[in-house]
Amino acid sequence: MNPCIRAVVRTASHYGVEVAGISEGYEGLIRGDMRELTPRSVGGILQRGGTILQTARSDYFRTDKGQREAIRQMNEKEIEGLIVIGGDGSLHGAHALANKNVKVIGVPASIDNDIWGTNMSIGVDTALNTILVAIDNLRDTASSHNRAFLVEVMGRGCGYLAAMAGIIGGAEMILLPEVDTSVEEAAGVIEAAYTRGKNHSIIVIAEGAEIGAQDLKMKLDEMDVGFRTRVTILGHIQRGGRPTAFDRLLATRLGVKAVESLAEGISGEMVGLRGSKIELVPLEKVVSKNRTVNLEYYEMARMLAF
Ligand code: F6P
Repeated sequence: MNPCIRAVVRTASHYGVEVAGISEGYEGLIRGDMRELTPRSVGGILQRGGTILQTARSDYFRTDKGQREAIRQMNEKEIEGLIVIGGDGSLHGAHALANKNVKVIGVPASIDNDIWGTNMSIGVDTALNTILVAIDNLRDTASSHNRAFLVEVMGRGCGYLAAMAGIIGGAEMILLPEVDTSVEEAAGVIEAAYTRGKNHSIIVIAEGAEIGAQDLKMKLDEMDVGFRTRVTILGHIQRGGRPTAFDRLLATRLGVKAVESLAEGISGEMVGLRGSKIELVPLEKVVSKNRTVNLEYYEMARMLAF
């Protein structure tokens, strides 16, 4: 998100527009907690993970009253337009504000890649690279010890990270929220890999999959699948770290387009990556759809696991 903030501030400055950075998302907006951001104050943040503005989940903002307070603060501080960088909740909030006549543009940021209307959201590529490093490391010990590793990655409703990590990390199997998989099926795949002569097995499990990594381990340990099993839950390390080249470029392009769109008087839209272009998608559409992983990837992972 930092490369996006930098791009927003410097593009705005180029067009002679002043920028205030709001602390802790909608919580900060309701409190009127904002500070001027200048091209100099966003220097040196391009390579930093997270967000210099900090973030928070706000239940109050979901209410009509909370949104009214936020708009009041914007009027008081003479804020003419808002750029919202965030995931599903943030974009729902942006849509609600647009419906109350606030000029707003959304920018998709969520490692889950579950936002409809963009091929990629900010943070996905960095998270995926972190997962790959972990899987590569785990494979070393898995193959040395003849073990099956159950690796849990983030993704509550969308198994994008698990599917991609499974394909490019060489997993034996992936478990996704989008596909029901029984313990017997998983046991069968691991056992077959053992019988084929593999010396280890990696199973990537999305946190939203029907069976969690711990539960699956317990059940597998009651059966004999050949390998002994271990669980690694990657958790929040996936949500930090230096943004990759892809993420920096994506975040920068989205930030530039967001400012240019607001400056043109456009509102109620999200900027997204469509094909190789940055385009506008109505927030109305974005919030009314759920993005799930393309199941072609699931089939691809199965085929390549042999
Ligand atoms: O939506 C992004 C996400 O990272 C999910 O993958 C994960 O389930 C959730 O956030 C974790 O939320 P929290 O940081 O509040 O535990």
